[in-house]
Amino acid sequence: MSDDEMVEVTRSLEKYYKNYTIYMRSPDGKGYFLYKQKGVPIEAVRIKEKRHPDKLYITLQDKIKEVTAFQRKYNAQLRKEIKSNPAAAKEILWKTMELSLAEPRTQILQNIKETIDIVVAEYLETPAVAANLLEVSAKDYSAAIHSVNVMLFCLGLGQYSQFSAEDIKLLGLMGLLHDVGKIKVPDEILKADRDLTVRETKILRRHTEHGYRIIKDGQLDLRVALSALEHHERSDGSGYPDGKLGNEILPQSAMIGIIDAFEQKTSCRPGRTPLKPIEALTAIREEVGAGKFDPEIFKTFARSIVGLH
Ligand SMILES: [Fe+2]
Repeated sequence: MSDDEMVEVTRSLEKYYKNYTIYMRSPDGKGYFLYKQKGVPIEAVRIKEKRHPDKLYITLQDKIKEVTAFQRKYNAQLRKEIKSNPAAAKEILWKTMELSLAEPRTQILQNIKETIDIVVAEYLETPAVAANLLEVSAKDYSAAIHSVNVMLFCLGLGQYSQFSAEDIKLLGLMGLLHDVGKIKVPDEILKADRDLTVRETKILRRHTEHGYRIIKDGQLDLRVALSALEHHERSDGSGYPDGKLGNEILPQSAMIGIIDAFEQKTSCRPGRTPLKPIEALTAIREEVGAGKFDPEIFKTFARSIVGLH
């Protein structure tokens, strides 16, 4: 088995020790050995006292099966809660995105489409659902929470722009997955509580290209991959990774770019005071004036969020 086919599970071993076949690395580091068969439990004390090899693994196939089972469970819960219990529904959305963004493989990305279907179906019937979900705030800010918020603003913008249900779903999916490439950026850069060095900034910016590749390898609409690639491009060519100009950027990528900026300015993140929606819009309007964002898209977005706050 190659490294690509194995997933390390040492940190949450309790979850895996019973129902999964677990592997360890061979001493020469070139392959994997069986550590224990599926169905054979490891004594709890061994886990507690870390009496096992430093790193243990399950197959990627098992991991995908596990994540898929959770996604199904969460989607069923979401269907139940989304109408009447926004707090529970948002919690479920966070959990499912946390799980999915941590292992963004084809099958798992494909399953997220079902999550979007559930949210959009409810949203089209009861638009207040998006506002209710946005009102629920989180204690700890995370990538999953950011992606869910961006998705919710996408639904508002799609609806306000009179997109078809299919196009609203597409935009919502782009919102959920725009930062999926961050899985390839080391945590110490993502969570750095200081200014990044030039080298670190370069690595962080690569999340756009990673995201493009991850999504492109799956079976989703190519535009979802493009929006992951282009959401940091700016109309005047000052964005990254390619310095594309306004007319070269997919309109949906430009929408995600504005929403991403808005969400970052208005969300509660450690060490930063969130701006009020109107303050965030004013700040972004300045960037529109400087040629960074498309004025028409900005106008539509600004109007679309009036109904949400
Ligand atoms: Fe990003």
